[in-house]
Amino acid sequence: MRKILVTGGCGYIGSHTIVDLLENGFDVISIDDNSRSTKYLLDGITKITGKKVKNYNVDLKDYNDTRAVFQENEDIEGIIHFAAYKAVGESVEQPLMYFENNLFSLINLMKCVEEFEVPHFVFSSSCTVYGNPDTLPVTENSAIKNAESPYGATKQMGEDILNWIVKNGNSKAILLRYFNPVGAHPSILIGELPLGKPANLVPAITQTAIGKIEQLTVFGKDYPTRDGTCIRDYIHVSDIAHAHTLALQYMIDGKTKTNCDIFNLGSGNGFTVLEAIYAFEEVSATKLNYHLGPRRPGDVIAIYANNELAVNELGWIVKYDLKDMMHTAWLWEQKVKEDEQIIKNQQFQLN
Ligand code: WQD
Repeated sequence: MRKILVTGGCGYIGSHTIVDLLENGFDVISIDDNSRSTKYLLDGITKITGKKVKNYNVDLKDYNDTRAVFQENEDIEGIIHFAAYKAVGESVEQPLMYFENNLFSLINLMKCVEEFEVPHFVFSSSCTVYGNPDTLPVTENSAIKNAESPYGATKQMGEDILNWIVKNGNSKAILLRYFNPVGAHPSILIGELPLGKPANLVPAITQTAIGKIEQLTVFGKDYPTRDGTCIRDYIHVSDIAHAHTLALQYMIDGKTKTNCDIFNLGSGNGFTVLEAIYAFEEVSATKLNYHLGPRRPGDVIAIYANNELAVNELGWIVKYDLKDMMHTAWLWEQKVKEDEQIIKNQQFQLN
């Protein structure tokens, strides 16, 4: 079976992608140092697929430990690289930690790709690379703007590093630019597990609804948009996951146009923060406690994707709409509350 290494496999998008890979006939191993995750989602993968996935608890910043995984698995056909810090606000407060973690990890991985001749590499990138776009929707050829945060800068640098490495190399890479991944697997056995207070909108909504957060703050009500709040392209995490399987298969089938193809992974629809809140209130039949507050530094006004390249080239079909995203996110929040003690014990064991 074709063996795929998923880094960050115990995380949100990583765990959903492992489920999709297993369901599509791939064999999977994971590298995750559990610095921002636990085995809880790995157990969820087993409950969904019936398969146990081996996770190497390795810090990718440690080259020798990383290389040892490749020595033990000489038959890795492809790598999907999720493992990175991804909190925009935290990256502004601790830029060096972000550059060290996100870039050293990628460079160590690419040294192993070269030595062990791994043919295919999928990189988790972000719509953040577009900054505040001049025209909407953004295509893969839209201008790359100055990063709004060190987190965004690490994604831009990661793309540049990969472009140079694969330009004359034997491996190929695909860059997947996610818009806003939200929601949970339909089984409600895996989902997003933010450590501490969530920075992102949808977990902040569900934690407010369940009472973990007193009141949600809408960051900004005076933007030049239809209702004054920011516009984003929310995309279900299971749709994002399947796109990774399709991208890998696309490379294995030799269909890539360059050594470093790029695809936008967004639904193609832009929704304001208030529209997202209203969708949540409708599917949860609850009234959300929120207030309109000041803008958050670094936020772009509006961004949503032209996803035609992924649809036409990868055969990607976006299955879930905004209400599905909010519904699965809400069911997952309730599931996390049920398993709160189990999750806390696992996090305690790690610290
Ligand atoms: C969405 C909107 C906020 C919280 C970032 C990264 C991106 C990706 C997803 C990793 C904005 C508003 C939020 C809250 C709010 N990261 N908001 N109240 O910033 O678009 O994207 O996370 O994959 O790369 O850039 O996502 O969910 O933080 O914010 O009003 O409590 O919700 O101002 O307009 P963002 P987000």
